[in-house]
Amino acid sequence: MEQRRIMGHFATGVTVVTTCYEDQPQGMTANAVASLSLDPPLILVSVDVKAQMNACLKASDCFAVNILTEEQEEISVRFARHGPKDFSGIAYRTEATGSPVLEQALAYVDCRVTEILQGGDHDIFIGEIVAGGAGQGRPLVFYGGQYGTLSG
Ligand SMILES: Cc1cc2nc3c(=O)[nH]c(=O)nc-3n(C[C@H](O)[C@H](O)[C@H](O)COP(=O)(O)O)c2cc1C
Repeated sequence: MEQRRIMGHFATGVTVVTTCYEDQPQGMTANAVASLSLDPPLILVSVDVKAQMNACLKASDCFAVNILTEEQEEISVRFARHGPKDFSGIAYRTEATGSPVLEQALAYVDCRVTEILQGGDHDIFIGEIVAGGAGQGRPLVFYGGQYGTLSG
């Protein structure tokens, strides 16, 4: 699609958005993520209405955004596949909301959903940040439909 090709020129980081649904960890690779407001501290993530994660987020009312490092491309690929997501071999903990926070993430924010807006075939989940942190490392990058790393 032309929009995808054009907007693919906008280089982004890569995240795994997680939540806990029916006592099971859920996750989805996402790059349609943005910092929305500082006061109050809000972020947004745009989620396909057809994605499993959409219903999970509506039910759980919370999510964590885990920003991936350049070593975590395999995790991004894993959480971008359709169907049930496999957390095996991935260390995680919970913080304020119960959403999984990946131990090896470059940074994370843990959020409570405050609003859900409709945006065509996606919903925009706005979350208030209730916990967060950042570690050491280099980000995984997505550009032109390909994974990459920062040089320099
Ligand atoms: C780099 C990358 C970024 C993505 N960003 C988003 C996004 O922001 N929102 C979204 O709904 N899907 C996004 N996807 C697609 C979802 O990860 C994918 O459709 C989802 O995991 C499918 O799971 P499900 O059909 O089992 O729900 C992205 C995929 C990749 C590879």
